[in-house]
Amino acid sequence: MTRLAPSILAADLAQLGEEVAACEAAGADRIHIDVMDNHFVPNLTMGPGTVAACRRHTGLPLEVHLMVLEPDAIIPAFVAAGAGLVTVHAEAVRQLHRTVASIHRLGAQAGVGVNPATPVGWLEDILPEVELALVMSVDPGFGGQPFLPRALDRLRELRRLRDAVGARCELEVDGGVEADNAVACAAAGADVLVAGSAVFGVPGGAAVGLACLLDRVGRGPARL
Ligand code: DX5
Ligand code: ZN
Repeated sequence: MTRLAPSILAADLAQLGEEVAACEAAGADRIHIDVMDNHFVPNLTMGPGTVAACRRHTGLPLEVHLMVLEPDAIIPAFVAAGAGLVTVHAEAVRQLHRTVASIHRLGAQAGVGVNPATPVGWLEDILPEVELALVMSVDPGFGGQPFLPRALDRLRELRRLRDAVGARCELEVDGGVEADNAVACAAAGADVLVAGSAVFGVPGGAAVGLACLLDRVGRGPARL
């Protein structure tokens, strides 16, 4: 089953509680929280307080996507705020194995991601250690960017690597995912689709956006 993780980067942050509750009601599997530090990426977004605010409004798992250089010192605050899974970038961490182990020691699941121009092979040796591997399908930093089709090849390659090393982690794709490429992402190996604009930025908002994506991945309402 393909899972959907709405990115609240595209939500109406003045209505965050209602937005995450709408995602839960519409069938989202988890909430994706994009954390940017203005160093790893040229933008600044949310912190542990946003995670805690989401935690008060949904029972869904919260995954934090840290687009943060050398994030080790701040990770405990995100887990304490309610993050169940913390994803770091391979390009942003000096000792990836140590960071992954520290996330696990905090009681959270660990994810590792790569930017579009980073070889997915960078993740090969860490795949057995993590719960999630993230293929970025845009350069991180902003929502609403167009999907880079090369991500599909990269998902296929990462799936091959994962299976070759006998790892069981989920594969996730993030950036520019929408109704027209959701099926291709799933077919290429993505277990989890992150979507911001395609969920919150469509007429009707999260209820409509999620229904459309769920339908595309074969999880729509049963038809007679
Ligand atoms: C990009 C973020 C993504 C992105 C998703 O830096 O990690 O989560 O905002 O938003 P859309 O779906 O609008 O590309
Ligand atoms: Zn993200």
